[in-house]
Amino acid sequence: MMSIKWKGIVVIYENILVEKRGNVALITLNRPKALNALSPDLMRELSSAVDILEPDSTVGCLVVTGSEKAFAAGADIKEMKTKSYMDVYMSDFITAEWERIARCRKPVIAAVAGYALGGGCELAMMCDFILAAENAKFGQPEINLGIIPGAGGTQRLPRFVGKSKAMEMALLGQARIMDANEAERSGLVSRIVPLNELVDEAVSTGQKIADLSQPIVMMAKESVNRAYETTLNEGIRFERRLFHSAFSTEDQKEGMSAFSEKRKPKFKNK
Ligand code: CAA
Repeated sequence: MMSIKWKGIVVIYENILVEKRGNVALITLNRPKALNALSPDLMRELSSAVDILEPDSTVGCLVVTGSEKAFAAGADIKEMKTKSYMDVYMSDFITAEWERIARCRKPVIAAVAGYALGGGCELAMMCDFILAAENAKFGQPEINLGIIPGAGGTQRLPRFVGKSKAMEMALLGQARIMDANEAERSGLVSRIVPLNELVDEAVSTGQKIADLSQPIVMMAKESVNRAYETTLNEGIRFERRLFHSAFSTEDQKEGMSAFSEKRKPKFKNK
């Protein structure tokens, strides 16, 4: 159990660890005995952590990681198995607890070692990019449980790896797990990192982002994400408007002056 103080309130976490390293918030999923199975409690804690960290001006980037053995082995099967249709429909299961991380306006890096299965793979895909350890394993084994992926797997996975591989993974489940090399080759992960360097590398990558102008970083993230939601023409128009608006910031003046004066920029997030 760990607690953090936020606006004078003590927030207690039982399923995650939250720490600040420089300007990076490191969130570690911490249910080792259940291979970080994503229970509603864990997902509520993760959402609450994002609620706290997103508006914190000292945090420029978030990193979500798990253990060396498992990023997360999926939604918690033991908690789900007796749920009825009405239970999941009326409580808006998944939507209610899971989507906060995908709505975070600051960058979120997933640092994945070991199993990222089912909801674990889906959670990683909700982040902005995935750094994978050599032992990372991605899959959508829901079909073996008599369900289909329910946290975006059938939608985000094809956008990352294309229809053929995504379809094979969704249809074959446990029989079609993707290793780190294939995940990098197919565009699911941005880079493979040695296991013992994974978290440090993710944090130092996050710090490089945190050293930049926060509003400009947020615009870049919003603009890339737009590519998945609209036509090319509309996306280009959206990018152009944000690009134009970047010229209204002090950080644009500072960034370009620093380049001309051959010095490091001092961004003010303004
Ligand atoms: N939910 C609940 N408990 C889980 C779990 C899960 N998703 N995954 C693992 N665990 C538990 C196991 O039950 C076991 O607990 P006990 O010690 O109490 O028996 C413990 O974690 C360790 O797991 P294993 O003994 O199975 O470890 P292993 O190394 O032999 O196998 C594994 C690892 C291949 C990942 C295997 O645990 C496994 O197949 N897990 C389930 C993966 C899965 O099907 N995920 C999809 C879930 S559904 C989903 O995510 C829906 C969605 O889209 C949102």
